[in-house]
Amino acid sequence: MFPSGSPRSLSLVFLLGMASQGISCPSRCSCQYLEVNCTGQQLQEFPVDIPLDTRQLILAANNVSYLPPVELSFLADLVYLDCRKNFLGDDLDFTFIGVARLVYLDLSFNNLSQVTFSTFSHLLSLVVLKISDNPNLVAIEKDAFANNTWLRHLDVSRTGLTFLDTSTVRDLPNLRLLGLSDNLWHCNCSFLDFITWMMESDVHFPDADNITCHTPAGLRALRMPAAEAQLHFSCLTQLHKQDYVFLGLVGFCIFLAGTMAAWLAGVCVVIYEAHASKGEEEEEEEEEEEEEDTRGPRLRALLLRGRARHRPRPGSLLIPAPSRRRSAPR
Ligand SMILES: *[C@@H]1O[C@H](CO)[C@@H](O)[C@H](O)[C@H]1NC(C)=O
Ligand SMILES: *[C@@H]1O[C@H](CO)[C@@H](O)[C@H](O)[C@H]1NC(C)=O
Ligand SMILES: *[C@@H]1O[C@H](CO)[C@@H](O)[C@H](O)[C@H]1NC(C)=O
Ligand SMILES: *[C@@H]1O[C@H](CO)[C@@H](O)[C@H](O)[C@H]1NC(C)=O
Ligand SMILES: *[C@@H]1O[C@H](CO)[C@@H](O)[C@H](O)[C@H]1NC(C)=O
Ligand SMILES: *[C@@H]1O[C@H](CO)[C@@H](O)[C@H](O)[C@H]1NC(C)=O
Repeated sequence: MFPSGSPRSLSLVFLLGMASQGISCPSRCSCQYLEVNCTGQQLQEFPVDIPLDTRQLILAANNVSYLPPVELSFLADLVYLDCRKNFLGDDLDFTFIGVARLVYLDLSFNNLSQVTFSTFSHLLSLVVLKISDNPNLVAIEKDAFANNTWLRHLDVSRTGLTFLDTSTVRDLPNLRLLGLSDNLWHCNCSFLDFITWMMESDVHFPDADNITCHTPAGLRALRMPAAEAQLHFSCLTQLHKQDYVFLGLVGFCIFLAGTMAAWLAGVCVVIYEAHASKGEEEEEEEEEEEEEDTRGPRLRALLLRGRARHRPRPGSLLIPAPSRRRSAPR
């Protein structure tokens, strides 16, 4: 229990141990073998004179608002601590740093406001943790139980929680029971992941009828399986404001590109037409000069058409038609 080298400190520890066996017991508490029971004594403070070899300490239903970490750490063999129905609150971080053997911890019916990684991270043997009925408990950090790998029973019912990250509980390999009822669950799309985990896990959720959404108003009092169906639908079809802006921009770009393409096509057609008519005039002039055209099959076709038009009439076979203008009827 105490790492000490000299025989004198050893005997001191022995004497203290002897004293704890029966001689000392906190006032207003009852002490049995390795167990101290101070239930319902209106204690204002953590009792002094607790035997150092105590394994089980019951402080239930008192008025204790502070657990002193140092005095608690004297009880290095403590495995069972019941502090339900007290006024514990404020900051419990590092409170349990010296009671690493704790297996059972009951902090229900208190005034906890938050749980962080440092609150329970030293309790590597913790199996049962009850923090239900803490109406001011509004936040549990994502990795709050990351070190409590033996946790089997966790109760966070009847708190002020609106949200719990899935990884907070999903990664607990030994979890068998999880109390979630009568919280103010905010069923938004982030919470859908948690509900989906609930549906799929084989953890037991006591009082499942009372695990319901509190907000948004449209989902109030809806139980989790029903909420999952609703959320699945709305979260998968939901478009955010920026999505609309994006879609609008895409639409505008398409419109712009279309207009540009149409304009370009129009310009091309106009240029082509202008070229084509100019080419025809040139051909006609060339034809007048009776020169061979070598500019391509299309132009040649036009040329042929032009020649066909000016084929001489049968009656005037002998009269050569030197030019179109002169052959025109006068
Ligand atoms: C502690 O004492 C109270 C009454 O003083 C009693 O009701 C309770 O059962 C005791 N708890 C244990 C674990 O002995
Ligand atoms: C302890 O708390 C109870 C309930 O809040 C109260 O009625 C009682 O007066 C308190 N006792 C002391 C000694 O403060
Ligand atoms: C509970 O904690 C809140 C702050 O979180 C505090 O304002 C309030 O006074 C506390 N209540 C009791 C009974 O200690
Ligand atoms: C958390 O657990 C790891 C491994 O079990 C350990 O090394 C570490 O010290 C623990 N953290 C705290 C704050 O106790
Ligand atoms: C959902 O609600 C929680 C808690 O109110 C909040 O932290 C989270 O950002 C919300 N998620 C979305 C997508 O609104
Ligand atoms: C479940 O909720 C109902 C209505 O809010 C309440 O009357 C009932 O006591 C709750 N059940 C439990 C076991 O807390």
